Amino acid sequence: MARHYNSVLGLDIGDSKICAVVCEVDSRREVHLRGVGTSISSGLSKTGTIEDPEELCRSLDRAIRRATRDAGVTPTRVVTNIPVYQMQFVRSVGVVLSKEENGVISEGDRVECIRRTKTVLKSPDQKAVHVIPVQYKVDGQIVDDPVGVPGRNLEVETLVVLAHAETVTALTQVLKNLQLHISGIMFDGIATGQIMLTKEERTKGAILCDIGGRYTKISIYENNVLYNAGIIPIGGETFSRDVSQCLKVTLPEAERLKILNGDVLLQRVNPQDVIEVTTQDIGRRTIKKLLVCQILEARLSELLRLTRKSFPHVFDSKYRFVVSGGGAQLPGIAEYIEHHFSVPVRDGLPDEMSGALDDPHFATAIGLVLYAVRTKAVDYISSPRLAFLHQLRAMFRAIFH
Ligand SMILES: Nc1ncnc2c1ncn2[C@@H]1O[C@H](COP(=O)(O)OP(=O)(O)OP(=O)(O)O)[C@@H](O)[C@H]1O
Ligand SMILES: [Mg+2]
Repeated sequence: MARHYNSVLGLDIGDSKICAVVCEVDSRREVHLRGVGTSISSGLSKTGTIEDPEELCRSLDRAIRRATRDAGVTPTRVVTNIPVYQMQFVRSVGVVLSKEENGVISEGDRVECIRRTKTVLKSPDQKAVHVIPVQYKVDGQIVDDPVGVPGRNLEVETLVVLAHAETVTALTQVLKNLQLHISGIMFDGIATGQIMLTKEERTKGAILCDIGGRYTKISIYENNVLYNAGIIPIGGETFSRDVSQCLKVTLPEAERLKILNGDVLLQRVNPQDVIEVTTQDIGRRTIKKLLVCQILEARLSELLRLTRKSFPHVFDSKYRFVVSGGGAQLPGIAEYIEHHFSVPVRDGLPDEMSGALDDPHFATAIGLVLYAVRTKAVDYISSPRLAFLHQLRAMFRAIFH
């Protein structure tokens, strides 16, 4: 199959599924979706470490093959997320005393100041995957961009996203084995924020709650940057486990009950409705549908309690609350949050994206490519010669990494 140098692979490695997308970048640096593919995720441990690299390689390969067949081209560059296991989000401050003779802050001062915030990295087990400037101050005054501002004291506050170094190394190796050149490894919340939130929402303030398989990823946006984030160890699987334990049914049966009957708006569930379940002890029996819904509602309430505990100020403001991920498909979630916390809530894609992307399953994978293009980690390549140089540079980076 043809290798097209302006096509890029976006890989969303989830706890339950792998989503691959093939996108094409045009000369205006716009991203076009060309092909999609999925596979069941395997090779990751329950805690998200890469337990079996060969198995992970096979499940990635399956999703990639489907996406490349759909697109008709094989990309050479890849942008991927990483399993959120042991990920940490740390706010850090860096300070620089500018020595510029003209008395204005230079680009060099800015870069050095940001670099100094990496001192939060204390253990070789961790690797900084993002250092995001959140606020700059020049001589104590807040500024949007410090470069060119008259002053001496530059201060920057950053959000440093730390990942488990071993996981990053193992993932890099797996992708190399698949003959892919890595153009970016990033946190899901950054990718999903590019597509699930409008620029206005990212600027005015938004909280993105991605309810995945085992974890919920909370990303808080302000002034068009990821301002803070957190991981809560509750995901769609936790909801199913609760149903499984409370009703003494197998996990697949609990998953089925959740998807077919789940609703967290208890006031709209008819208390007389009954459903059939197959329990592990007494076999088939009927139970009230409301019981399943009450179990799910209790877990959602706990998830929101923990979210509020970690980010109290967000719930007291007019931040837009957006729910995404497979777990957010549970009926009633948006209305439930709106009712209990009096915040404006949206589920699903914003209007400006709904034409371009029909299936929100691929939101994170496309968001990875969008963010890489917006930050120039992936650029438009204008000629085969340049493509060759890019490839050569990537090979050198891979060898001397
Ligand atoms: N209709 C539905 N109602 C309720 N839950 C659902 C529904 N469909 C899927 N889910 C749940 O969504 C979860 C998977 O979510 P998702 O596909 O976002 O996970 P993932 O991206 O693989 O995980 P992660 O992003 O955490 O690594 C599963 O636990 C599943 O039970
Ligand atoms: Mg996911």
